[in-house]
Amino acid sequence: MNMGGSLRINKFACICLFFLMFLIIYWKNSGAQSTEIDKLDMVNLKELLRAAIQAAERGGKKVVDGKQHALNIKSKGKTKEGANDPVTDADYASHCAMYYSLKKTFPGVAVVSEEHSSDDPACENQEAIDVEDLPRDPLIHYLYDEKVLSKDVTVWIDPLDATQEYTEGLHNYVTTMVCVAIKGVPIIGVIHQPFAAQTYWAWITKEMSSNIHLVPMMDELEPTHPRVVVSRSHAGDVANVATKAFGPDSTVTPAGGAGYKVMGLINNTFDVYLHVTAIKKWDICAGDAILRYISGKMTTMKGETIDYSHNSAFKVSDGILATRSHHKFYLQKMPEFMSGDH
Ligand SMILES: *[C@@H]1O[C@H](CO)[C@@H](O)[C@H](O)[C@H]1NC(C)=O
Repeated sequence: MNMGGSLRINKFACICLFFLMFLIIYWKNSGAQSTEIDKLDMVNLKELLRAAIQAAERGGKKVVDGKQHALNIKSKGKTKEGANDPVTDADYASHCAMYYSLKKTFPGVAVVSEEHSSDDPACENQEAIDVEDLPRDPLIHYLYDEKVLSKDVTVWIDPLDATQEYTEGLHNYVTTMVCVAIKGVPIIGVIHQPFAAQTYWAWITKEMSSNIHLVPMMDELEPTHPRVVVSRSHAGDVANVATKAFGPDSTVTPAGGAGYKVMGLINNTFDVYLHVTAIKKWDICAGDAILRYISGKMTTMKGETIDYSHNSAFKVSDGILATRSHHKFYLQKMPEFMSGDH
């Protein structure tokens, strides 16, 4: 009995000793790791949020200024569905302002833009954003700093969403957008309406802009009268899909611009944003982030979440289903025709 007891104590002492050694080794290693990380390129998300807002607003100014001049509308060709894909000097001016002001402020961060630099060498002549110099937004000011590795960050920018409507003078549809994704997950979304001089933003789990007014959601089991917003180009086809999927009591509203449509979901003007053809990630990333903040959801029509890392494809081929609530309910109504359609 006694023998066994002392053996047990020895065993216990051994385990303690091992545990202690393990702790010492672990401490040493983690210490080494954190000093290594300090040397790596980090970006402060709070600064990135403030810069993203500033970039969207700088772009928006170019978009509004563009209306002072001839628009110089060119075509980037036709989309797969045959809609014209126009581009104007304002798209490029806004791209230059947004892309280079972000790139100069955060050189280590990947920025993906809808447009690329025009041949104009002045495009790159943009001032870096002096975050300390920006007007103080108390909602952001009192948030904690949060640093992440620059290499994990992708910034998606849309210098002018709804160019077609812009050329038609339908200014309320027009937005500029910035989205910050970390390891492919959208974390910060900024949607700026230059003609309404409004900027909407959200930073997941932290804060959203005070101009986003959340309407309490009805807790219906099965929404029977969904208000669906769809693209203005080829609205007819999508309207057919929507009424077939969600029933004859759904109302379908065509609208321009992905940014505009998501804002309509957020302020409870619409229940569903349905897009049945291919769409680019700079069109949807910012909206995806803001929707996530308010517990909405955006997926492909097949229900897949969207990867926003910079080495992913720019295009989402399987359409978009975005909702404020009841995502699963709407998703189950999606027709099977999507599979193998592309
Ligand atoms: C809600 O958003 C839609 C689409 O962006 C807009 O047309 C409408 O004016 C907004 N309504 C309110 C009350 O903000």
